[in-house]
Amino acid sequence: MKDVEITAVSKALPSKVVTNNDLSQIMDTSDEWIKKRTGISQRHFAEKENTSDLASRTAQKLLDQVSWKSEDLDLIVVATMSPDSLTPAVACRVQAQIGAKNAVAFDLSAACSGFSYALEVARSMMIASNFNKAMVIGAEVISKLLDFRDRSTAVLFGDGSGGVLLERSTESHFLASKLQTFGELGNRIVAGEMKVADDFQKNAHKFSSFEMDGREVYHFATHEVPATILETSKEAGIELADIDYFILHQANSRIVKQVAKKLKQPEAKFPINISQYGNTAAASEAILLSECVEDGLIKKGNIVALCGFGGGLTTAVEIIRF
Ligand code: ACO
Repeated sequence: MKDVEITAVSKALPSKVVTNNDLSQIMDTSDEWIKKRTGISQRHFAEKENTSDLASRTAQKLLDQVSWKSEDLDLIVVATMSPDSLTPAVACRVQAQIGAKNAVAFDLSAACSGFSYALEVARSMMIASNFNKAMVIGAEVISKLLDFRDRSTAVLFGDGSGGVLLERSTESHFLASKLQTFGELGNRIVAGEMKVADDFQKNAHKFSSFEMDGREVYHFATHEVPATILETSKEAGIELADIDYFILHQANSRIVKQVAKKLKQPEAKFPINISQYGNTAAASEAILLSECVEDGLIKKGNIVALCGFGGGLTTAVEIIRF
């Protein structure tokens, strides 16, 4: 086996749509502020469905696209920062839900870089372990972590899931990749913190909600992301002009436009869908990829740069030939 290739892409969103105007009814914010600062118009929020339900819907839609069965899957990796529970993992719940009884399944936590991290881990495991078929999903019900009294974070996020199937290939598809971790900047994005009390009997069974230093993360993303894309394209032995599309994590449309400007590439090569979904963390790259494939924008043979960035802090770039 030389490499693996992406053979199916799909997504699943909860049906409830919450607009900026809806949020302005419950907190001191406005459609104008949110749109201008982030590009977001609306987001989907889960009601009753948990992260594994959204992930399982994506998983089933992926399997519907291929001729083989769920029992043929060797590996399921779910990237999430909002699992149903610490154990069992979301991936284990998906395995049970779709009947993939021969698949190894586990979750991976790398916040908004999670999908790209999971793709790299799955690909490496496929090559090392001779696995034939893998499923990589990014899924979040991040609304569970939001404090709807904190307008600085609550307006930014949305729930959803997206994913891909990976299969062995005799051709080279993953041209280059670079994952980076900046642990010293970890306190810039903190969510679900489990504090330990002075007295073990007073340990509280609750997690902290989402807190972020938005300005610092903005600065981090607009510096690190273009530099890493440039470095990875050099490693792949291609020019930026050879990359057909840049699928960036959808945290803020201003970040995407700034990255396009710094790389001196046309904005048309940077699809944006944050207006409909908000920041869906580990799900965002896969949701966007899925829409681009469904719309016929990304076709077989295209070169795509996938790029995640966020909590950790982390970044991840993969240059892939479809
Ligand atoms: N509605 C109205 N006003 C608001 C809101 C709101 N929802 N939120 C904040 N404000 C106010 C602030 O109080 C502040 O008011 P002041 O000037 O009177 O103090 C003003 O708006 C400006 O606030 P800033 O936070 O400075 O706004 P900024 O322009 O930096 O935009 C944002 C904030 C959108 C969060 C931006 O910094 C950003 O996108 N950062 C990057 C986030 C990111 O990339 N995250 C990725 C990873 S997330 C993950 O890994 C899970």
